[in-house]
Amino acid sequence: MLFDSKWITYKTGEYKSADDKYGNPSPYFRREFSLSGEVRRATLFASALGVFKLYINGEEVDSDYLSPGWVDYRKKLPFVRYDITDRLEACNAIGAILSDGFAVGHLGSTYAFKRCGYSDRIEFTALVRIEYRDGRVEEIPTDSTWRASDGAIRRSDIYMGEYVDARLDLGNFSSPDYDDSAWDHAEETVFKFSRNLLLWENTAPRIRVKHIFTPKLLRRRGESYLYDVLQNIAGVLSLSLRGAAGASVIVRHGELLDSGELYTENLRKAEATDTFILRGEGIEHFRPLFTYHGFRYAEITVVGDAEIIDITAEAMYADLDKSGEFSSSDPLVNKIYRNALWSQRDNFQTVPTDCPQRDERLGWTGDAQIFAKSAMWNMNCKSYLEKYLADVRDAQLGNGVIPAVAPVPPVGSYAYTGREAAAGWCEAIAEIPYAHYVMYGDKRVIKDNIYALKRLLDYYAVESPDGIRSGRGAYGDWLSLGTPSDISAVSTLYYARAASLCERMCRIIGDSDAEEYASLFERISRAFRERFIDADGRILSDTQSLYCMAYKFGIIDLEAAKKNLERKLIEDGGKLTTGFLGIRFLLPTLCDVGRSDIAYSLLASREYPGWGYSVMNGATTIWEHWDSYTESGGIRAGMNSFNHYSFGSLTEWMFEYCLGIRPTEDGGFSRVTLYPCIDFTGKMSSASGYYDTAFGRITASWQTDGDCATYEVDMPEEIKWETDFSAYSQVEYISDGKKMTFKIKK
Ligand code: BGC
Repeated sequence: MLFDSKWITYKTGEYKSADDKYGNPSPYFRREFSLSGEVRRATLFASALGVFKLYINGEEVDSDYLSPGWVDYRKKLPFVRYDITDRLEACNAIGAILSDGFAVGHLGSTYAFKRCGYSDRIEFTALVRIEYRDGRVEEIPTDSTWRASDGAIRRSDIYMGEYVDARLDLGNFSSPDYDDSAWDHAEETVFKFSRNLLLWENTAPRIRVKHIFTPKLLRRRGESYLYDVLQNIAGVLSLSLRGAAGASVIVRHGELLDSGELYTENLRKAEATDTFILRGEGIEHFRPLFTYHGFRYAEITVVGDAEIIDITAEAMYADLDKSGEFSSSDPLVNKIYRNALWSQRDNFQTVPTDCPQRDERLGWTGDAQIFAKSAMWNMNCKSYLEKYLADVRDAQLGNGVIPAVAPVPPVGSYAYTGREAAAGWCEAIAEIPYAHYVMYGDKRVIKDNIYALKRLLDYYAVESPDGIRSGRGAYGDWLSLGTPSDISAVSTLYYARAASLCERMCRIIGDSDAEEYASLFERISRAFRERFIDADGRILSDTQSLYCMAYKFGIIDLEAAKKNLERKLIEDGGKLTTGFLGIRFLLPTLCDVGRSDIAYSLLASREYPGWGYSVMNGATTIWEHWDSYTESGGIRAGMNSFNHYSFGSLTEWMFEYCLGIRPTEDGGFSRVTLYPCIDFTGKMSSASGYYDTAFGRITASWQTDGDCATYEVDMPEEIKWETDFSAYSQVEYISDGKKMTFKIKK
């Protein structure tokens, strides 16, 4: 164990229950200490039931927010580690402000949106370890010598927002010369869960402010101001204010305007409201510490004598490094790409969430697996997804089922606990490790997850001995249009897919079970064909998604996919109908079957339904539904987010098909297949992009000229490559030693 300090708490109000709307004031802790020699290294470790912001000698320790992050605190406790070697003086003070966060604050979704899921009180533990140059080690653990107080933050909750009364501000409480004589002592607690609970180091990238915007004032009506950030973000507003003591400023957030007014209905029970009461001294700054909102618009109401001096909007998400970028000659397509990127940014919080705004924000496994590969093209998600996979394994039920969300909120419904084993959601345990391995080449991720996948497959085998899954309780091809895909067919397809990915991963790590999963896959495929495919080759319920998935999962051949998908698209009036699961495979399948012309016309379409329709209607992120908003129906009522990344999973296609950079199963880009799908319809005349591999950058681009195109690729020598130009009539290869150029004829 890296540290084993006492757990401390401080009671700032009567403990609240699951149904209370708001929690208690934030506890503040501080502890002074002096050095007794020259420091070689100093480290601060901290964990909490709740979330914290830490300070040292009057400044924040780190620019992170909502640390130590969310995991299932019943399984393990995340701690974070900060190097404070360069921050120490002869006399020092550590300060901490705690908030309800994920453990004590609201969690869940509208059906079961409750507080106190893991605990009814905040608990905190920390240790300062000082290693002196002379070899001595001094440790300053949390215990009852730490001083405690309440302060300006009267309540805060990730979904509800923060309420700050600056008249109760404690001043610079982490400064070493601060007078804490009026403070109480922290209370040592017997930690709520088992003392043996594992303290687990959360090394995944932390949440930080990644972009700052200057919102535009749209209108002022009396003391109410309406601002537009011009981008749907996950974050907060930061305000500079001046005014009289007791005057207040109330900030409400929303993704949309409806008839010129802030629209908040789709937030459901999330109040997403921050309140600041002024102290009345000079210019005051207000920046909530323990919440974030999914918003583009904010309405600020000033009550009493106060004025807004300055306002910025801060977008926050996991501090992941950018790894790739795509662009093309079509501004609409570029906007679609950027909207998907923004939905990733807004939802890559301490877990990858479905949406950042409403009373939900959960780690839905289906959404995460559909988007994971796309996410890895945009950003280096290696440790981020490893952490999420650990959440998924922690969530796995005793019978092997992977729940539909991970972590599972303690107060949930069947939807979360996943007793029904939702197809496409459970398979996060297959899809994410496989895609992760392909992108990063680290076999450890397979070794860490394959046992959980085998347990899931064991469950399926018992539940569906004939290979056909019933689909009971599953979501199917969620949020598709028109005739829904048969749910048993979708579930059986994903069963086959899980078996096939298991086989592939067994082979990659040299696991002798590979053969067993290969024959399982064969059995399920056969059962699928017998049960769901008729004599004409049609799959029961006959949807675009089913043909794409059946083809991509290796169950029908290219000819069958081509014939049926072409027919379906004609019958569907040339419009896409795919839901969350099918969408990932629609453009790839069209390209594989030689109909990249259709792929490009769906991509470039400005009509409903499609990505372009949302862009034409002002989207700055990817919508949850194809019809989240329509000109005829207005804003869709009920469950409706304007910031869900699932339909953004075409990002993967942009890199792997449009640019043709395809990493193979050798892993980590040690080998790639160049497979550009060039647009000869004339909608897009060029495309370019790059991806930063561990070996260096790969850049790829193409440009068309009538029926000809020039495709250029530049990549590190260490990367082995092959080409698949089978779609083209003629290809000429020219190399200048570094850059490769291919002259392609349609
Ligand atoms: C979420 C999802 C999720 C779905 C499952 C919704 O409430 O927002 O994106 O995958 O439920 O049915």
